[in-house]
Amino acid sequence: MIAKIKELIEEVEKFKASTTDEIEEFRIKYLSKKGGLVTEFFSEFKNVPKEEKKEFGQILNKLKDDVSDKVNYLKQILKSKDVIDTSADLSLPGSSYKIGSRHPISITRNEIVDIFTRLGFVISEGPEIEDDRHVFSALNFPPEHPARDMQDTFFIEKNPDILLRTHTSSVQVRVMDNQKPPIRTLSPGRVFRNEAISARAHCIFHQIEGLYIDKDVSFADLKQTLLYFAKEMFGEKTKIRLRPSYFPFTEPSAEMDISCSLCGGKGCNVCKYTGWLEILGCGMVDPNVLESNGIDSNIYTGYAFGMGIERIAMLKFGIKDLRLYFENDLRFLSQFH
Ligand code: PHE
Repeated sequence: MIAKIKELIEEVEKFKASTTDEIEEFRIKYLSKKGGLVTEFFSEFKNVPKEEKKEFGQILNKLKDDVSDKVNYLKQILKSKDVIDTSADLSLPGSSYKIGSRHPISITRNEIVDIFTRLGFVISEGPEIEDDRHVFSALNFPPEHPARDMQDTFFIEKNPDILLRTHTSSVQVRVMDNQKPPIRTLSPGRVFRNEAISARAHCIFHQIEGLYIDKDVSFADLKQTLLYFAKEMFGEKTKIRLRPSYFPFTEPSAEMDISCSLCGGKGCNVCKYTGWLEILGCGMVDPNVLESNGIDSNIYTGYAFGMGIERIAMLKFGIKDLRLYFENDLRFLSQFH
């Protein structure tokens, strides 16, 4: 009998199956409670001579274990085959995922940030809901200045001290509150002005403002920095020109134009046949601003500049209508990769 069991062990080892039915048949043949081979041998146990009982028991238990191991093993194989063995054509290229793209405002902001970071500027951010001091009074806005007027500024809860920032210069006041010169910071962010929405104006837009304060900072530093920026952003051939202007927080102040990036300065309908495009405001930080932020204006000077990101992106990508930025129309957004 022992020899017979050994034979069966070999048979079990060699057994192969390719369907669940075959495996089940195999299991029944050996392990079925009624008439299974293993079960039969166990019932023979009482007839086995005493001195063989031990070996018989061991070898029979091995057969039983081998059968259940084999059944589990074959089931496992079949399962993994089910996954692989489909009728799909594995050589077909996969279907592509739709990946989103960055918003043109983000692309432009990142590029501007990248250029100024190379010059040592660090990013600073601040809240969109601000108070009067950070947006106006610490920036030398006289109390009666028209920019504080309800027409431009969104006030919150009828409290004239709490408002939505109208420019990110407010962040620079926060930097001056917390840091001693030298300061070289760049503040990108969303700003709000109570303006009628049209192709050229919106009540929400984005700015990047820069501030540099140190000993001996001059207008020449400002001009050179902005020329570098214009060339990096719009191409090596770009020229700049500065026109005198007025901002409460800078003196002297200027507005900067670049030579039209579309016609190269010859004149076209984008530059209204002037050859120039206005892109930013700038100037030397007014000593009053330095003093009201605790910086000694006899030791330190500084420059500041600010630009609208929408405007830069319009020139860069040839976008004609500001409203497109806010509509989230995929036909528009998916063009920017
Ligand atoms: N803060 C100004 C604005 O919002 C821009 C500016 C910044 C002008 C710095 C001069 C210097 O229009």
